[in-house]
Amino acid sequence: MNLFRKKSQPDAEGFVTAVAAADLPEGQTLSLVLNGVKVILVRWQGSVYAVSSICPHAAADLSGGEFYRGKIECPDHGYCFDVRNGRTLWPEDEMIRLKCYPAKEVDEQIKVRVSTP
Ligand code: FES
Repeated sequence: MNLFRKKSQPDAEGFVTAVAAADLPEGQTLSLVLNGVKVILVRWQGSVYAVSSICPHAAADLSGGEFYRGKIECPDHGYCFDVRNGRTLWPEDEMIRLKCYPAKEVDEQIKVRVSTP
């Protein structure tokens, strides 16, 4: 995963441009700091998702984790999260959720809302 910092002005809905859509191929992830928020972008099955890079279990950096089949596995204790909704997939009885941010593709750009409008 690549990590770079980006400062952008939000649009009327609070979305900021993160990267060009072409920079995020299917099945890949991209880590970046977007207006001060550490985010992981994921393209999975044709959709784009944005999740926090901070593990909700004990705050490890998920950008060092492994992504496979729509899931991110934390490098510290192995918790596994669904990037589509942040739900914890392992351990199964865990109720914590990975923070998700609204993301969309507009005019060949990926935009993310990292703050509430
Ligand atoms: S810090 Fe991520 S699973 Fe513990």
